[in-house]
Amino acid sequence: MRTIDWVDGAIELVDQTLLPHRLEQRRVTDLPDLISDIQRLAVRGAPALGVAGAMGVALIAANVAAGGTSADGSAAVALDRDEVVRQAHLLREARPTAVNLSWGVDRALTRLDEGAAAILEEALAIRDEDIAACISMGLRGADLTRELTGKDPVRVMTICNTGGLATVERGTALGVIQTLLEQGSLAEAFPLETRPLLQGARLTAWELQRMGAPFRLLIDSAGPFLLSRGIADAVFIGADRIAANGDSANKIGSFSLALAAQHAGVPFIVVAPESTVDMKTASGADIEIEDRGVDEVAGFGGTRTAPEGIGAVNPAFDVTPHELITAIVTERRIIRPGSGETLATVPLEPLRS
Ligand code: MRU
Repeated sequence: MRTIDWVDGAIELVDQTLLPHRLEQRRVTDLPDLISDIQRLAVRGAPALGVAGAMGVALIAANVAAGGTSADGSAAVALDRDEVVRQAHLLREARPTAVNLSWGVDRALTRLDEGAAAILEEALAIRDEDIAACISMGLRGADLTRELTGKDPVRVMTICNTGGLATVERGTALGVIQTLLEQGSLAEAFPLETRPLLQGARLTAWELQRMGAPFRLLIDSAGPFLLSRGIADAVFIGADRIAANGDSANKIGSFSLALAAQHAGVPFIVVAPESTVDMKTASGADIEIEDRGVDEVAGFGGTRTAPEGIGAVNPAFDVTPHELITAIVTERRIIRPGSGETLATVPLEPLRS
């Protein structure tokens, strides 16, 4: 099953708001629906957002081409370039923190002059590259984990959802956990529930169960304490944007895990594709953090849990400083910021498969 794909002229995506109770695909045929699906997290996770961005431009181009008419009322032959760019800009802004969304939009737009079919071709290439990247990250990450921990099998902690649901097929940090499982090297996984939207409890637990992994779910605030008690040998997280200096934005709660991992002497590993690396952003201080407002904090599933009329600060992400990151694993390399390596100097290697 693919989390997001292009099928018969439209985007099909798994509606992640319905999981784990219902596994349903939605067909998205226009831009307002796609933006709404991104903002309500029907489709989410940085790499999946990159594919959504690129396929979204393909959808825009197809719709603009189909709706275009010339002055005499006949179907227009050329794509209205400005209109595609205008709509693509709206898509780009749908969520601010994951750089993959704007990266996917911009990469698809590089084919604008060649027309709608070329834009779709680029979007499909991004989809296929994501599938290959996740396989490579899984293999690199599994080897690195055994090397850094000196353990086999290993016990790992993770936050949010970084599995197949956050990518096209297989996942980043959770993809490493799946690879460890397939290689007989996973003792147990400890996903955090990930308040307020429970991506860990709803999505990661669902994925771990489907893959047959041994795991137990933790409440978020138990993670740092249990690391100090030696419950896990390594922490894996994904990333929404990795700044040039290695500072990494990811789901809120990641920073606390990094601090606790350092305290416990446990490797803290960021797993993300090269498309999440943003060399134009110098450091974590420059990363825009999405605030998702009061309602997600003051209630859940339509039930109010806090008094009416209160305010809340609700950052969806935090930033882990590079000093706390033992290693960043991408499909093409491993960077060890904790040992002074930088994204600018570690060379790219071939994909692993
Ligand atoms: O708000 P979300 O669910 O989109 O947040 C997702 C995360 O923080 C993931 O860890 C990140 O995008 C990496 S997904 C492989």
